[in-house]
Amino acid sequence: MNILVTGGLGFIGSHTTVELIKNNHEVIIADNLINSKIEVLDKLSTITGIKPSFYQIDVTDESQVEEIFSNHKINGVIHFAGLKAVGESVSKPLEYYFNNLVSTMALSKLCVKHRVDKFVFSSSATVYGDQPSPLKEDMDLKKTTNPYGETKAMSERILTDTAHANDGFAVSLLRYFNPVGAHESGLIGEDPNGIPNNLMPFVTKVAKGQLPKLSVLGNDYDTIDGTGVRDYIHVVDLAKGHVKAIENLKNGVNIYNLGTGRGTSVLELVNAFMKVNDIDVPYEIVGRRPGDIATCYADASKAEKELDWKAELGIEEMVRDAWKFEMNNK
Ligand code: NAD
Ligand code: UFG
Repeated sequence: MNILVTGGLGFIGSHTTVELIKNNHEVIIADNLINSKIEVLDKLSTITGIKPSFYQIDVTDESQVEEIFSNHKINGVIHFAGLKAVGESVSKPLEYYFNNLVSTMALSKLCVKHRVDKFVFSSSATVYGDQPSPLKEDMDLKKTTNPYGETKAMSERILTDTAHANDGFAVSLLRYFNPVGAHESGLIGEDPNGIPNNLMPFVTKVAKGQLPKLSVLGNDYDTIDGTGVRDYIHVVDLAKGHVKAIENLKNGVNIYNLGTGRGTSVLELVNAFMKVNDIDVPYEIVGRRPGDIATCYADASKAEKELDWKAELGIEEMVRDAWKFEMNNK
């Protein structure tokens, strides 16, 4: 297939591009570099031996995206492009609603117009809100606590309505849990601008001595050791899930959790990082972060049953590869 990958130079999009190329698909990337670097394109060619077509465009601009549909016979779209910092979305809600919603609307409109009937969307476990884990795809969605989360819930709704209104339009809503790790080459990985918000990139910066210590955000949750529990998934497993999702897309709306089905606490993750990489990560326990929930992990059985996909890599590979990327790249 010829697949348009929006946000294809970002963290998850770049790893998915590698897996798509490995599975003989042709990838056309659209990215405006707002949170990625052009060098990733060369790294993709080093890893795969193939340089994907690249358009430096903003996918909220319908006319620019239309040019891609005119230049290539697109068979499917995987839409990663979006802004993703939860805290920033609270202070800049309009930027988040505009970027994340207009991009989804422009792309789905063009897909309908050009009869491109396969659409895979990057959603998030955040749409479940605070409900008991394991989280299942058929649970009711709960109000999210921030504009970023709302853009994911609204995009799901926009794509669902579009699929219902257009016979033959097939959409897959992939609800990611906590993607971490990096490609085993150490060439591509997670490279956030500024001080990271998420746990794993913060840990790698502390291990490297670029930040003095990790703040563990709360140890009074009702969990194994009081710290927050999440379903960390290796980004390469997540990327493989996208290949399965687009290759096995059925008509209508398909919703899948992409997680491992296992929960890991903050302290378990930090201890695994120190042990596997034989390096110290100084930390202190501080108060909870507003909006955080105690526990979030997937019931990942639907993707296994319907897509023949399941996560294979464990916490050890995640912490090893995250550290390898950090060491290689800065
Ligand atoms: P990322 O920031 O690394 O990648 C997003 C890419 O999209 C970047 O390369 C950025 O430059 C590009 N982009 C953003 N807005 C654009 C626009 N208007 N036009 C063109 N390009 C644009 O993020 P990621 O971690 O790879 O996340 C990819 C997707 O997955 C996002 O939609 C994110 O919300 C979603 N997601 C991520 C996580 C996570 O923890 N990383 C969890 C759940 C869902
Ligand atoms: N944490 C710390 N210290 C830090 C950062 C995080 O202790 O410096 C803790 C958090 O309290 C939480 C766990 O580490 O218990 C994971 O936090 P992250 O910020 O890495 O991830 P979240 O689960 O809060 O959120 C992530 C993405 C969201 C997405 C959600 C569900 O950032 O975009 O997963 O997919 F919606």
